[in-house]
Amino acid sequence: MAKAVAETFPMNGGEGVHSYTQNSSHQRDGLNSSKAVIDEAIAEKLDITSFSTSDPFTIADFGCSTGPNTFVVVQNVVDAIKLKYQKCPSLSRHIPEFQVYFNDHIDNDFNTLFKSIPLEKKYFAAGVPGSFYGRLFPKASLHFVHSSYALQWLSTVPSELLDKNSPARNKGRVTYGNAPDEVVKAFKAQFEKDMSSFLNARAEEVIPGGLMALLLVATPDEIPSPKSIFIGLFDLMGSCLMDMAKIGILSEAEIDSFNLPVYSTTRKEMEELVEINGGFTIEDMEQLIHMAPDAEKCSKHLRAGMENVFKEHFGSDIMDELFDRFTKKIEESLILSEGSLTPNELFVILKRKETVVVGSGMIRRAWWKDPNGFEVMEVGLVVVVAARLEMVVQGGCWGSVFGGDGGRVLWWRMGEGLILVEAKVRDGGGMGEKVGC
Ligand SMILES: C[S@@+](CC[C@H](N)C(=O)[O-])C[C@H]1O[C@@H](n2cnc3c(N)ncnc32)[C@H](O)[C@@H]1O
Repeated sequence: MAKAVAETFPMNGGEGVHSYTQNSSHQRDGLNSSKAVIDEAIAEKLDITSFSTSDPFTIADFGCSTGPNTFVVVQNVVDAIKLKYQKCPSLSRHIPEFQVYFNDHIDNDFNTLFKSIPLEKKYFAAGVPGSFYGRLFPKASLHFVHSSYALQWLSTVPSELLDKNSPARNKGRVTYGNAPDEVVKAFKAQFEKDMSSFLNARAEEVIPGGLMALLLVATPDEIPSPKSIFIGLFDLMGSCLMDMAKIGILSEAEIDSFNLPVYSTTRKEMEELVEINGGFTIEDMEQLIHMAPDAEKCSKHLRAGMENVFKEHFGSDIMDELFDRFTKKIEESLILSEGSLTPNELFVILKRKETVVVGSGMIRRAWWKDPNGFEVMEVGLVVVVAARLEMVVQGGCWGSVFGGDGGRVLWWRMGEGLILVEAKVRDGGGMGEKVGC
């Protein structure tokens, strides 16, 4: 399996004054307000009758950080799924065991995460290190996927931003707010590539019928993306760095060669990317208004999340001064009061498309006379599966297959190639009818 290459900038670890653990209550508020949407999706969109009752129910939180937010989410999901089983007459006595996977970059402070796993938890816990832009789990092994405030992180800074000869060279800025179109396009293209990788990997890993809940930093479609509060805050951070360059604490060249690998998506962009991926249906997509905290808290939260990126490039000595200046800039600007009035987050519920077997059977592969004159018939087993109308034919031969539910596939093999002549698929049919709860 190819290794996904990613730059990793972990949140501040431990439990100290600048740690993510101590400075992530704003994200926790957002998670608490999205709880109702997750509960509803589990109650109404998750078809637990299609899952095996002997296997554990698997949940993965992608970009979990050090806690405690991830534990709150995971417990909510476990509770909602248990309730669903309890309410289903045929399954109420078959509540599965729960296996929870906590994923983050290899540099994440997993020690702090593991030390703070709630003692009273009613699930098995495991850490899964690595970038979520690549494959991390076996095929069709996850029932419920969650990710919050993590997919704004790009896998890398787009290379053209650092190219001195490129029109996308991002001079004097650290992000794409107030930047020329070429810079905005470079960030957008990187996001599209990364989100496609995320969706492709999860389409392999999520079991058909499984759900994915994503809480994303986002910008309303109606306003230009660079004007989002999230990107606006990083523009202020860039201007703090430029102020420090003016008084000789830094050089402008250091700022020119630095960009933050973050992006704030839009609803339209997400709809298009999910559509292109083709493996999921959009069950819900809601824009959320999440009131920003005051300047000091906002600065502390961003320090807990972003300090390592700045430290790696500019060194740790200037961090206190940089974030003091940042707090003052936020206070002086109207960004929090104005930005809080427009939706700045997007909550997305996706469902992995069902795969149905539309037909299987023995068919004639070849027929010839052997040297003794006997007629020989070679037969092969063919299974035809379809995810909605996207056909996947496993096995190669010529002939036709008729599914018990009326689904029908005809094909003709020429050399190594396979030409699909006709495909009629009935949604939801195939082997075994579904029973709703
Ligand atoms: C702001 S924290 C969010 C933590 C938690 N989900 C919450 O809602 O509070 C973002 C996390 O995503 C992780 N992250 C960013 N890019 C990632 C990637 N490509 N693969 C895995 N984790 C990633 C970061 O390391 C960080 O821990």
